[in-house]
Amino acid sequence: MEFTPVDHPLVQEKLRLLRDVSTSPKEFRALLAEVSVLLAYEALRDLPLETVSVETPVATASAVRLRNGQPVLVPILRAGLGMSDGILRVVPEASVGHIGLYRDHDTHQPVEYYRKLPADIAGRDVLLLDPMLATGGSAVAALDLLKSVGVRSLRLICLVAAPEGVRAVAAAHPDVPMFGAALDSHLNQDAYIVPGLGDAGDRLFGTL
Ligand code: PRP
Ligand code: URA
Repeated sequence: MEFTPVDHPLVQEKLRLLRDVSTSPKEFRALLAEVSVLLAYEALRDLPLETVSVETPVATASAVRLRNGQPVLVPILRAGLGMSDGILRVVPEASVGHIGLYRDHDTHQPVEYYRKLPADIAGRDVLLLDPMLATGGSAVAALDLLKSVGVRSLRLICLVAAPEGVRAVAAAHPDVPMFGAALDSHLNQDAYIVPGLGDAGDRLFGTL
């Protein structure tokens, strides 16, 4: 499945500020929440619908509703939390599942340390959230986990992706569409995205 770059001017303006090394954690949190709403708007555009009728005060109108109910947001801890916080403002009925992964400093492989998912997640539309798609190891591990509990409708939203990460997700999970604000150049020797924006979790939570 392809990576869809969201090139809306408002997304790109916020991305510039998020990349800027002088942006404070307070500003970074606000910007990440805001840009995530715009990315989710694009990623959820084709949510399955069904036709229903609704009584207005005047007459019966034809309307639509979400076929699989409200979506489930699954942020990858920690940095994904900055995205779910924003999206919840406009999809307040969404459920939120959490997957805790950190990248081992030396191997760059993801290590799972937490998981809590809604019991009925299998039949629902799931949005996996992580601002950084670097090697793709974390996203692939989270998608493996979500599929192992029966999830079939998956979308991945990131902020910045590296070609290596896009290739890894496309190879392991060709059915999962990816959305993001930018597809950057490459990874450096520490598996950081270039030019990227640095360590998203540290910038979000002020743990630099
Ligand atoms: C970062 C980021 C992704 C992962 C991306 O998390 O938020 O989860 O790295 O890298 P990958 O595509 O190579 O797997 P990190 O492991 O630094 O944990 P943190 O969010 O707790 O800081
Ligand atoms: N994780 C981050 O937070 N940033 C990167 O560039 C790569 C992995």
